[in-house]
Amino acid sequence: MKPLAVVTGATSGIGRATALRLSGDYEVIGTGRDPSRIADPLPGVSYVALDLGNPESIRLCAEEILARGVPAVLVNNAGESQSGPFEELPREALERLFQVNVIGHVDLTQRLLPAMRAAGRGRVIMIGSMLGSFPLACRSSYVASKAALKGFAFAARSELAPFGVQLSVVEPGSIATGLSQRRTGYVDKRGPYAGEYATMLDRLNRNERSGIAPERVAEEIARAVAARRPRPLYACGSMARVVFPLARLLPLDAMLRLVARKHGP
Ligand SMILES: NC(=O)c1ccc[n+]([C@@H]2O[C@H](COP(=O)([O-])OP(=O)(O)OC[C@H]3O[C@@H](n4cnc5c(N)ncnc54)[C@H](OP(=O)(O)O)[C@@H]3O)[C@@H](O)[C@H]2O)c1
Repeated sequence: MKPLAVVTGATSGIGRATALRLSGDYEVIGTGRDPSRIADPLPGVSYVALDLGNPESIRLCAEEILARGVPAVLVNNAGESQSGPFEELPREALERLFQVNVIGHVDLTQRLLPAMRAAGRGRVIMIGSMLGSFPLACRSSYVASKAALKGFAFAARSELAPFGVQLSVVEPGSIATGLSQRRTGYVDKRGPYAGEYATMLDRLNRNERSGIAPERVAEEIARAVAARRPRPLYACGSMARVVFPLARLLPLDAMLRLVARKHGP
């Protein structure tokens, strides 16, 4: 029997490509908010409902996964992409984003960890974003949610390693998944930030459309999953191989200016 892999948000984009990539070596459970609405389910992948905004849905999803077996791999990929100037972000949007992008994944992972720990093995991959390392204006809530997920992962890594459970973060750059059409945005169109917001969004959407294919991220995730000693952080897209070393050399201020210039006027 193949080991079990769970990929959250497997109905499109990076999650779908990852479920497909892992399905050769693993029995894959993919999640979506409403699996009955998946138009083209992947052969070899079974789907379980998961709404990360709903704690009860997370509990039921974990129960269903554990009824099928102990996951050898958990890819926490599902997420909301949110934009808006810091001053204008509504509290309810912030709460939803942090529930979906951070607390939901922490909750699901906490529910699966005891079984993985008891089995003495497991790989947990948190899908962050390069924006979590390279913050961008008018994306502060999303940047903060991805940085928070990375913080959980980096801190918990050494807690879990003695039990054979390895935790890594994968930060994609711009990936052509159509995410731009699903991004939530909060801005006063006649307010003081409207111009900067529009410019940033235009650049961001252009970058996403011309980004690398989600299959390339799936390959990076598969690399992290298969590594004998998984690294804390993997990244791909948006010239990650150049940008990360460069950021280590530059003063923080210069790095932030470079990111702003890439997305600004
Ligand atoms: N595309 C990029 O440029 C990029 C760059 C950096 C990081 N990322 C990150 O990579 C991950 C995947 O992004 P993607 O581009 O592949 O996006 P996508 O194509 O929009 O896929 C998002 C997935 O998340 C699921 N999802 C959305 N809201 C959810 C919720 N409240 N509860 C449970 N599942 C939910 C969606 O499933 P249903 O709608 O079917 O429920 C879908 O399967 C995200 O975490 C994103 O932040 C993407």
